[in-house]
Amino acid sequence: MGALEALRAYVRETEEISAAAALAAWDQRTGMPEKGAEARAKVLGRLERLAFERLVSDRMAELLRAAEGEAEGEIDRALVRVWKRNHTRHRAIPPELYQKFVEATARAEHVWEKAKAASDFSLFRPHLAEVLDLVREIARLIGYRESPYDALVEEYEPGMTTARLGEVLGTLRRELTAFLQELRQGTPPAPLPPGRYPVDAQKRFCRDALTWIGYDFSAGRLDDSVHPFTIGVGPGDVRVTNRYREEDPFSSLFGALHEGGHALYGQGVAPELAWTGLSGGASFGIHESQSRFWENQIGRSLPFWRHAHPHLVRHFPALARTSPEDVWRHVNRVEPSFIRVEADEVTYNLHICLRFELEVELVEGRLSADGLPERWKGAMGEYLGVVPPDDARGVLQDVHWSGGMFGYFPSYALGNLYAAQFASAAEREIPGLWARVARGEFLPIREWLRERVHRHGQVYLPEELCRRVTGEGLSPEPFLRYVRRKYGEVYGL
Ligand code: CO
Repeated sequence: MGALEALRAYVRETEEISAAAALAAWDQRTGMPEKGAEARAKVLGRLERLAFERLVSDRMAELLRAAEGEAEGEIDRALVRVWKRNHTRHRAIPPELYQKFVEATARAEHVWEKAKAASDFSLFRPHLAEVLDLVREIARLIGYRESPYDALVEEYEPGMTTARLGEVLGTLRRELTAFLQELRQGTPPAPLPPGRYPVDAQKRFCRDALTWIGYDFSAGRLDDSVHPFTIGVGPGDVRVTNRYREEDPFSSLFGALHEGGHALYGQGVAPELAWTGLSGGASFGIHESQSRFWENQIGRSLPFWRHAHPHLVRHFPALARTSPEDVWRHVNRVEPSFIRVEADEVTYNLHICLRFELEVELVEGRLSADGLPERWKGAMGEYLGVVPPDDARGVLQDVHWSGGMFGYFPSYALGNLYAAQFASAAEREIPGLWARVARGEFLPIREWLRERVHRHGQVYLPEELCRRVTGEGLSPEPFLRYVRRKYGEVYGL
């Protein structure tokens, strides 16, 4: 057997173990009975450990070394690149340190929940400090050129650096804070009157929406969970979940479009990438671009509501007196608020800019856990003009830091930027794009995304993929143009 063939066989077995873990994880978060929790945690831990041990094994090191010289085609080169990167990163961390990290983050997450419920940062502070020390040690072992944060962000956005993020997010922050001021001169759209929207009708509406955008129900399913998510169980099986709030039919719809966007990516990967480990997204940012594309670029557009409005009214007769324009305005209101996950398109990225800046300061050692709540409040006031009255609605709102996931937050903003870049490329390349959306013809868009983005899985690095799709690398400009145009119109500027 050739070296590449041997690597492929070893990777395939590893991927099969990960697929079993994914199925167990999906069940854990959807239908698993409560009493099964303890045993399931053990089984999941075992499967994940098996896959991890194979990733960092001497055998993997050998296979990668041997295959490196043989890899010629695009896919084989990506196969070696992706596995080598993961292997090297994880092997840099000694097992004892990794164990310490797993235990510290488990404790920190548990305490974070309590601290958030009590809105008391002081409970969480020592745990955050401990996690932060371990994260900085891990960054040091992985290695970096300029900032230890580089080593962390690489996990989520390969090829990205702290300096580049600083430029892009800095532009975004300056332009968006200025635009927020402009919006204050405009007329805020009137919200729709409150009502009750039966969950069953919401579920039917979400199924409709997933069907419109071309989600393949014979290669996936839609279930309920506390937090919506998408999970690839294996080739031909990419599942989504959603949640429903009786007082609001839009949050479940946008949840469905968001997860549907992630799932179309998974369903659209070329079959030859199955079991290679290349069938995930090019990066977390690119993955998020696919969800934001359908949720915001399409789902919050006026043409979308010209198509969707009659269906909305059919499912929710209480909205019969509204027009497509009313609904479009309703779902495009801008209001600075404390909570990231509830933020609108204009203010959302400011929540990310804030987290990015604080994370870099923490990881570079220029800010300590002690100083975090004050720094948070100061930045909120500066960027959004609102200061959270307590820790629960401030520094304690997100789970990420308790899990040691420093470097993850920028992916959300990058997703918004890539989504706008892809949408403006789609406008150029798909004739009559918005007229088609208004007629409910979404499949040409899915096909375009499939051809340009989905098919390639992780074969290209995010920056290269972005260039191939749009002709240029990551840029905040298309997003800023999009936001100014749409919200200028909604607010009558
Ligand atoms: Co997402």
